[in-house]
Amino acid sequence: MNKNTDSIDRRIIDRRLCAAPMMDWTDRHCRYFLRQVAPDAVLFTEMVTAEALIHGDLDRLLGHSAAEAPLVLQLGGSQPEKLARAVARAAPWEFAEINLNVGCPSDRVQSGKFGACLMAEPELVASCCQAMMAETDLPVTVKCRIGIDDMDPESGLDRFVDIVAAAGVSVFYLHARKAWLKGLSPKENRSIPPLDYDRARRLAARCGDLSIILNGGLEKADQASVEMPGFDGIMIGRAAYRTPYVLAEMAQQIFGTALPQRYQVAQAMAEYANSMTKTGVPLHSITRHMLGLYAGQSGAKYWRRQLGEMARNADDAGNFIIDTASFCENLAAKHAA
Ligand SMILES: Cc1cc2nc3c(=O)[nH]c(=O)nc-3n(C[C@H](O)[C@H](O)[C@H](O)COP(=O)(O)O)c2cc1C
Repeated sequence: MNKNTDSIDRRIIDRRLCAAPMMDWTDRHCRYFLRQVAPDAVLFTEMVTAEALIHGDLDRLLGHSAAEAPLVLQLGGSQPEKLARAVARAAPWEFAEINLNVGCPSDRVQSGKFGACLMAEPELVASCCQAMMAETDLPVTVKCRIGIDDMDPESGLDRFVDIVAAAGVSVFYLHARKAWLKGLSPKENRSIPPLDYDRARRLAARCGDLSIILNGGLEKADQASVEMPGFDGIMIGRAAYRTPYVLAEMAQQIFGTALPQRYQVAQAMAEYANSMTKTGVPLHSITRHMLGLYAGQSGAKYWRRQLGEMARNADDAGNFIIDTASFCENLAAKHAA
């Protein structure tokens, strides 16, 4: 299905655990998979530019399953009027929240003047958010860095947040490192500028009336309880994708929910794959996001190879996933015996 018809639950957003927006990674199939792993986590779309939403195929850009709720739509852009139009166009898909990307450092994004370079223009970000708010009753939120280039991470970040909060934004997802816009690739910008959780924590303490969600470098399950104090939530990116069970373990710590069995996740994905492949979706577009399900377990290598390389040749989507999972489970049982 494409349009989310559940208009009650989608409004309840508990942001204690969020899976980060990631271009080319967190598409609808990935999110459906993550939803099986962490039933309570907030999920984000990949960034969609305002321009694409105004001119593009909305089903392709926004289509998702009701099971993905609560789902946040992340937008990229810096022209208030275009962002407002994009928000209006997205209304029928009933997202839980609309988020503006002020953290992405890629060249492509800088050339369109959006993403992290907007940290230097808080007034413009405030205008963008106000224009977006005028088109929706949903929360409009911002994802940003602690600074860019030689911006002072103390006064610069405080000023940015104060100005944007004055426009009515009360939730900030904070990737706790600077973006260095000159000389680093987007990938390097996710690991080379040092993480500074203390700076993020000072912001959260200073802005008690705002929700500050910590993001960046959280990759071990026990970091959820260690780093959470002082914040309203944590957001997990690469670790959720590469080792999805870490997200499940964090969910268990935060919400007290039972850990899903890997085999049950595989079963749910088998059903999903059966229905999706019937509509023409290649099985590999789904399985490519599931490679980490057995990470650290017996059969991890087999699972990765089967789902990564052999899915293209599989005739029966659901049975292919189930058979591969059964093999891994049997291997684990043998090792445990
Ligand atoms: C492949 C990839 C694509 C990303 N795309 C986006 C994006 O579209 N929007 C965004 O705000 N951040 C994007 N990010 C950044 C993540 O949301 C997150 O802030 C970053 O990876 C740090 O979190 P982590 O250390 O938990 O991965 C991307 C990250 C990766 C690895």
